[in-house]
Amino acid sequence: MPTFRAPRGTRDLLPPERAALRRLETIASELARRYGYREIETPIFEQAAVFERGVGAVTDVVEKELFRIAQRSDEGESWALRPEPTAGIVRAYIQHGLQTWPQPVKLTMTGPMFRHDRPQAGRYRQFSQFDIEAIGDPGPAIDAEIIELGLRFYRLAGLDEVEVLLNSIGDGACRPGYIAALAAYYEPHAEQLPALERERLHKNPLRLLDSKDPAMAELNAAAPRITDQLCEPCQVHFAEVREHLAVLGVAYRLEPALVRGLDYYTRTAFEYYLPGRQGQQQALGGGGRYDGLVELLGGHSTPGIGLGLGLDRIVLALQANGAAPSSEGAPVAVVVGADPAATAVRLRVATELRAAGIAARAELGRRKLAKQLESAAKERAHFAVIIGDELADGNVQLKDLDAGSQQLVPLVDLARKLASGDRSHHHGGGES
Ligand code: HAM
Repeated sequence: MPTFRAPRGTRDLLPPERAALRRLETIASELARRYGYREIETPIFEQAAVFERGVGAVTDVVEKELFRIAQRSDEGESWALRPEPTAGIVRAYIQHGLQTWPQPVKLTMTGPMFRHDRPQAGRYRQFSQFDIEAIGDPGPAIDAEIIELGLRFYRLAGLDEVEVLLNSIGDGACRPGYIAALAAYYEPHAEQLPALERERLHKNPLRLLDSKDPAMAELNAAAPRITDQLCEPCQVHFAEVREHLAVLGVAYRLEPALVRGLDYYTRTAFEYYLPGRQGQQQALGGGGRYDGLVELLGGHSTPGIGLGLGLDRIVLALQANGAAPSSEGAPVAVVVGADPAATAVRLRVATELRAAGIAARAELGRRKLAKQLESAAKERAHFAVIIGDELADGNVQLKDLDAGSQQLVPLVDLARKLASGDRSHHHGGGES
């Protein structure tokens, strides 16, 4: 037999990791709701052209990392797994005529993305993103709103130290001049460039700046900076974004070398990092404005801005900080009994509790009571319901496993008692 393994660059999320991701998903959906973003869900694959046009054909994400699905002979289409959500969401905005809805249309989606990247710590071929998009607002106020939303997410997740790096990468008026200046800067070094970069010098010089090739680092550090060449309207927009951030009390660091790895960005661009992690291509999240994307994908000219936060990297950062493992999934009550053979009555009582909405497990093995209680305590249940001779009178013993106390409770009152007991456990536990 071969030894089967999960595909390279993917991971099985076992219950503790899945619980950690679920917690972030819950924070994400609550936060999005609080800020007025509504959920959307697009397919995890799209016509490859959505990404080629939207993200850009000459980007790492499309040129090197796109998971293309082998074309079927009966279809003229070619498909790809989504490497990111923005292009698909904008495709849906156009397809369903969302420009007739009140603008901006504020959308959120959380789910798996796929990039055929070289796997390493924090870089996977399937990873999860929390995404926010506001389509139909030219800013600058909404730019600040979204940057602040991202920081609030990290704070709620438990990463207080995350900082935001901010830049403006110009628009159709000023970027062409900048790109020409970049090309002129790299041209004399063309012979020394790595092969891919040499090729990109002629097709998309901007992409040399976010090259992952270490050989590029020194050259890139001295490259001309877009912020020195912004046109007047882009300068004003950028200044106003910063004013709004200042009013919100959001601290940020200006990073003129930040250009993002996707072609659709205009003006505002930002990334979130843990202090000191910037050099390692390990952004926890990022986003920016994409005022040309709707038109590029076939819609009317419409501005937009959004962010994507990488949930896997946040889980890793929390683990590195020694965050306590989540106790999610522990039953409130475990039904045990003095008669090891009486599995049917234990199962019946647990079934009635579950029907009443209580998370309960019955001891279905035939172990001695002491062993049953031991395993209930080990899985951190709050209560043991002990079935014994009292059942003849309609009663059971209810043992509070944390307090160690025990009381006789009529079976008919059991669910109500457990529900209120569970609430007080939660309130007493200091969880928020
Ligand atoms: P992105 O910067 O390509 O932006 O990805 C956002 C985040 O996803 C990254 O900062 C990182 O945390 C995470 N990420 C990316 N690739 C991987 C990987 N291979 N393994 C683990 N995590 C990864 C976007 O995708 C844009 N759609 C964001 C956006 C939304 N811009 C406007 N709206």
